[in-house]
Amino acid sequence: MRNLNSMQQKAVDLGIDLTSLPRHVAIIMDGNGRWAKKKGFARLLGHREGYKTLRSVLLNASELGIEYLTVYAFSAENWRRPVEEVAGLMKLIETAARDELRAMHQNNVRICVAGRIDEVPEGLRRALLHGIETTKNNTGITFTLAINYGGRAEIVDVVKQLIDAGTPANEVTEELISQHLYNPTHPEPDLMVRTAGEMRWSNFLIWQSAYCELYVTEVPWPEFSSTELLKGVLTFQQRTRKFGAVVE
Ligand code: IPE
Ligand code: IPE
Ligand code: MG
Repeated sequence: MRNLNSMQQKAVDLGIDLTSLPRHVAIIMDGNGRWAKKKGFARLLGHREGYKTLRSVLLNASELGIEYLTVYAFSAENWRRPVEEVAGLMKLIETAARDELRAMHQNNVRICVAGRIDEVPEGLRRALLHGIETTKNNTGITFTLAINYGGRAEIVDVVKQLIDAGTPANEVTEELISQHLYNPTHPEPDLMVRTAGEMRWSNFLIWQSAYCELYVTEVPWPEFSSTELLKGVLTFQQRTRKFGAVVE
């Protein structure tokens, strides 16, 4: 048997089959605010703690052998929050993008983004584009940050592209739409994890997740751990995916 790293060993110990991992895991990192409130901290402190969680979860996912990790960092609807929180989040993501780039590059991570990044503050946009350019030839995990991302907005952007290209109506197919999403070469997510208990999609990857398995944990994002990630994977492996067909 091949040598397992500690994350893989932990997975095997929990009963996970390493040969049928979800290829693409998407995470709705929720509950930073509630976590902070419960501790008597400001909401932004919750986001800072959430950033630390993300750093380790990316490493865990990569060591486990997940090929694609996509995380919801800021939704197209999150602009409705108080200006100080929005500004704080933008600054935090920008700092994180700069501070983590070297380590991510060394770990062979390929960075992508999803969302209308032309609408985020200039400094953040530049940090993201720099990260994408630096890591574009990496062959490890593909890490996609969804920022100013909305699933409906993404579909609107696809429709605009198709109309601009003069696409005749009878040529519009599901495949064609998929080919014009923000990251058309990414496989669809197999597993969607949501922390902090809410049972909704909140406009995340709504086209791509038509048949993805949902795993919701009560744990708030700042307390999410490698064990939680593995529980999600194990639950995924216990499901029967049918894609509308009959499976015996
Ligand atoms: C998720 O945590 C982070 C973002 C949406 C940026 P929240 O800030 O939504 O935390 P809750 O839902 O208020 O607890
Ligand atoms: C979804 O969480 C967005 C992110 C995690 C970035 P929200 O906290 O914004 O979702 P709702 O408002 O509870 O639906
Ligand atoms: Mg929330």
